[in-house]
Amino acid sequence: MELATLGTDDWYIAREVRLRALKDSPSAYISEYEDEVGVGEEGWRERFTRMQWIVARHQARVIGLASSVRVDSRPPYERHIESVWVDPRHRRTGVLRAIFGHLSVVEPGITEWRVWVLDTNAVAQRVYDRLGFSPTGEWQPLADGSGRLEIRLRFDAPPRSG
Ligand SMILES: CC(C)(COP(=O)(O)OP(=O)(O)OC[C@H]1O[C@@H](n2cnc3c(N)ncnc32)[C@H](O)[C@@H]1OP(=O)(O)O)[C@@H](O)C(=O)NCCC(=O)NCCS
Repeated sequence: MELATLGTDDWYIAREVRLRALKDSPSAYISEYEDEVGVGEEGWRERFTRMQWIVARHQARVIGLASSVRVDSRPPYERHIESVWVDPRHRRTGVLRAIFGHLSVVEPGITEWRVWVLDTNAVAQRVYDRLGFSPTGEWQPLADGSGRLEIRLRFDAPPRSG
């Protein structure tokens, strides 16, 4: 497996994998395929200004994705993880763990990681627990009237020197 941080000119790769994720795992995300299929080059390049996009590849094919998002209103040492997805054929083989490891190397100054997970996504909750995340106690209902909640998790990374 290879890990890479995409550059802005790789926007089309992030878009293709993100759309694959939305089709494959619609219940894991708030956003729907139909919401994002219309986002083109300009929209994707804008996403790259405030997000890092990490991919995992197996034999040149992208099998995992995550983004690390800097939120203006939040401290500079904090990032939100979004768009987390691993190809079903490669799940439970350490792909997401490797992506997080890569993120901690490319963002050494980040000591607080945050993620929102749906209360209905029991697998992701177990996975984040295994990766060392714990609930912050914050939650919010989705605006879609489905009754689902988003639960916030955090992971505190020790500061890295050098
Ligand atoms: C959540 C998801 C990204 C996990 O990716 P993954 O590459 O399979 O995860 P990893 O193999 O790196 O596993 C990380 C840890 O979680 C555990 N784990 C993985 N899948 C699990 C499952 N289905 N049940 C219980 N534990 C699981 C692994 O055993 C591992 O722990 P360990 O190293 O202590 O043994 C993947 O299941 C996925 O894409 N799901 C659909 C999309 C989704 O829910 N995204 C998250 C949105 S918030």
